[in-house]
Parts: sequence; C-alpha cells; structure tokens
Amino acid sequence: MRPRTLAHINLGALRHNLLAIKAMAPHSQLMAVVKANAYGHGLAGISKALQEADGCAVATVEEAATLRENGWQGRLLLLQGFADTSELDASIELNADVVLHQQSQLDLLANSGRKLTQAVWIKLETGMHRLGFELDQLPRLSQQLCANQVHVLTHFAEAEEKNSAAVQGQIFRFENTVHGLGYSKSMANSAAILNYPQSHADWVRSGLMVYGVSPLAEGTGKDLGLLPVMTFSSRLLAVKTCQAGDQVGYGSTYTCNDEMLIGTVAVGYGDGYPWQASSRSDGQTQVLIAGALCPIIGRVSMDMLAVDLRPVEELGIPVTEGETVILWGEGLPVEEVACSIGTIAYELLCGLSGRVKYLYE
Ligand SMILES: Cc1ncc(COP(=O)(O)O)c(C=O)c1O
Repeated sequence: MRPRTLAHINLGALRHNLLAIKAMAPHSQLMAVVKANAYGHGLAGISKALQEADGCAVATVEEAATLRENGWQGRLLLLQGFADTSELDASIELNADVVLHQQSQLDLLANSGRKLTQAVWIKLETGMHRLGFELDQLPRLSQQLCANQVHVLTHFAEAEEKNSAAVQGQIFRFENTVHGLGYSKSMANSAAILNYPQSHADWVRSGLMVYGVSPLAEGTGKDLGLLPVMTFSSRLLAVKTCQAGDQVGYGSTYTCNDEMLIGTVAVGYGDGYPWQASSRSDGQTQVLIAGALCPIIGRVSMDMLAVDLRPVEELGIPVTEGETVILWGEGLPVEEVACSIGTIAYELLCGLSGRVKYLYE
C-alpha cells in the first residue's frame, strides 16, 4: 500500500553532510546533534549512518538509550545532563557524557553517592542566559571534578548573524576563562561553523547542517555543498476544474478568479504540515508537482490542502490523481518553505506527526 504521506530519508545524503561539515571544520571533532528524534528524521532510522561523526548529542535519556539500542557505541553526550537520580543512573549505565550546567546537579550527585565514570562537559554562561555556570565558578568546579575527564562548552545566541558583537563577546569571555586550563573546548553550532571559524575549537556541535539544511537566513543547504536528507511528500487525492467565483476550503478564504485546475493533496496539519501555510494576501507557500511549483490555495486542513495546478498545465504535463507532491526536500528546499510561512526549518522538520511513514535508504 502506498503511504499517504512519506518522509524519505536519504542516508547517503546524511553521510555526505557529515563529511562536508568535517571539511568545514577540519581541525575539530564533530558532534552530530541528533536530539528531537534526529530533528524529525527518526533517531533509530539514521543511527546506522552516523559513523563519520565523532560523537552524538541528544537532549534526553530516552534518546541516548535509543542510540545505544541501535548500535551507536561512540561518544554520546546528554546536552541537558541529568535532573534526577534515575537520569543520573541511566547516564552512567549508557556511558553517556553529561553536561553539568547548575549547582543542583552537583548536589544531586554528591547526595546520591554515585560516581560519574563518564566524561563531564561543564557548560559556561557567556551570554545566552539559558543554561550554564557563571564563569567565575569554573575554578571551583574543576577542583571538584578533578577525577573526571572534563570538557567545557558554551552556546551562542546569534551565530547566524555575521560579525555579531554579541557572539564575539561570548567567544572572548569563554576563551578568556578557559585559556591555559587544558580542557577540551566546544562552542560552535552549525551557524558558528560557517560564520565564526575562530570558534571551532576541539569540538563543533552541528545539528541542522547534518540534515542538509542551511542555518543562515539567506540561501539553502545546496549553496553550502549539503544535500537534503528528508524529502517529505504526499500525493494528489483529487483533480478538478473550478469556475471563476468558486471558493476553496474552510472559511472560503480563496476565490478562483478564473476557470482553473485545482488539486487536493493528501496532507494537512494532522501530518505536521503547518496550518500557517494557508494562502494569505502577503505571500504564498508552494509545493512541487511534476517539476512545477504550485501555490497552496485556501486553508490547510487536518488531512488535506488545495493547490493551484495551473503551473503544471503550463508545462504541458497532464496531471492526474495519485501524482506525487513534494512538500519539501529534493527540489524544494525546506528553508524556502519555512521562509514563506514565517517559521524556521527546525520547526518544520521536527513537526512531522506519527502518521507519516518513514523510508530509509
Ligand atoms: C547546545 C547545543 N549545541 C548545538 C546545537 C546544534 O545547533 P544547530 O542545529 O543550529 O547546529 C544545539 C541545538 O539546538 C544545542 O542546543
């Protein structure tokens, strides 16, 4: 049975992207960030294609367990560390490095009587104000953790901005604090790999680029030599001719200005295709059908959306029910879809629902 909605995951593209990122930061080790179910790509499904990474970073103990169950034996980092004794125990059992970012974790560790056997990554607060110890705490922490292999990391608030004074300030404060202490260091996410080579340090932590997507406001992954890993597609459920004045979809928000061929696509917000892509006066989101970009018309509903099929007709291609509709991926960059909706590619990729079928090859 052909699936209604399909996320085709190209593992060759993922391997290519890992190598491409390593070439961008040739003196650093690569931590592939695979949290949030590998940015919506399916953690179990991609786990066999990660060999080129020097480590993998996840947000939750469950994600760490999934990676281990699927054969990942390399370095594994829990980006939020542990928040209670069961998470602490799991991190030890899974041999997952932990981020330490606040005193309560050290108190929990001391009170638990457990001993961390894995490496720790001390997160320093340099300007993001999300997680991290204040810089002046580092000497005390290093004394306390002297038995462990210690790494230090920080995270940038606006690395997608070139020449940002804020990022430069974060790099300066971080380097100034850790200089000469001999710890392995990590600062850069995908955008910083591109915009701030001086932040590459010992480990870069890349998420979005692993999946072939650009973290920058302009351009796409292709411009960076990356390949899209996910192609999200559906198919045409119905093709019909509407007359001038006919209205399409909930709220009758779209009125045909002429006789026109329209298609009903078997995807909606119940699959994770955003309602915000509904047609608006200030911009249109498109899908790709038989090589033609077709605008969405009217509102996206739970299981369906409507498209203007005239661009396919103009190519002289007969369009029929069952035709594949690419929502993003190969031929239609997710960055462009996100931009047309006013969101970010991260949100679209992470948002696919459980009824989308995944195919890995
Ligand atoms: C601490 C940390 N490092 C690295 C990343 C990867 O970021 P990106 O996907 O922009 O490369 C994230 C993602 O949010 C993160 O939280």
